[in-house]
Amino acid sequence: MAEPILKVSDINVYYGSIHAIKGVSFEVYEGEVVTLIGANGAGKSTTLNTISGLLHPSSGGISFFGEDLLRVPPHKIVERGLAQVPEGRRIFLHMTVKENLEMGAYTREARGASGVGEDIEKVYGLFPRLKERKRQQAGTLSGGEQQMLAMGRALMSRPKLLMLDEPSMGLAPILVEQIFDIIGDLHRGGATILLVEQNARMALSVASRGYVLETGKVVTTGTGEELLASPAIKKAYLGG
Ligand SMILES: Nc1ncnc2c1ncn2[C@@H]1O[C@H](COP(=O)(O)OP(=O)(O)OP(=O)(O)O)[C@@H](O)[C@H]1O
Ligand SMILES: [Mg+2]
Repeated sequence: MAEPILKVSDINVYYGSIHAIKGVSFEVYEGEVVTLIGANGAGKSTTLNTISGLLHPSSGGISFFGEDLLRVPPHKIVERGLAQVPEGRRIFLHMTVKENLEMGAYTREARGASGVGEDIEKVYGLFPRLKERKRQQAGTLSGGEQQMLAMGRALMSRPKLLMLDEPSMGLAPILVEQIFDIIGDLHRGGATILLVEQNARMALSVASRGYVLETGKVVTTGTGEELLASPAIKKAYLGG
């Protein structure tokens, strides 16, 4: 089997004396949608923030395309092709939709990539709502539209791995479905995605594989289908 794109090996992460991540290991292979599911406080965001270089593990390793990511600053990690859509989205509220998308291309321009205009059109193809609102201030978009913009902006960096932290948070069911449909479309288009979710049912239904986190540890892993069918997962995460 090919080497994984992302390999997280036995990482431990502390916030002061709080041991938030306890020996977590997992892999993401090219073209997979891998999901980390778990309850509030299980350590999902901490794991993503450690991969993107915002937090530092006290031990363990993280490699991306075979290269060590530890001690690489966050902006260099983005340049290497790893884009994160953080929890709570963090778009530029005072810029327009189009300006936010252009900002997303910034790191790839540093790599000399062109075709920004074409990629903006691709993002508009995925999210027609954004096209209709391209001159609107991002801060006046609805929550769901802001989530779409955050995803669109991350795609503008042409990531080799896209990490999404709870893209469905706070959205009405119809928008949750739209966001997961788009994740499915991106998957079929060949994208590699690491998806963190509390909405286990939706996440597992789009995922190639999943890992279940409980209080900082991976307790179960399997394909999306296996986990959806597991009685223990049904009971704990899918409402019985
Ligand atoms: N800055 C911080 N300082 C201290 N403890 C923190 C900090 N951030 C997170 N924690 C703790 O680390 C643990 C894991 O938090 P994390 O945010 O990774 O959980 P999560 O799985 O993303 O939860 P949620 O689904 O609620 O977003 C929690 O117990 C949390 O209280
Ligand atoms: Mg979180």
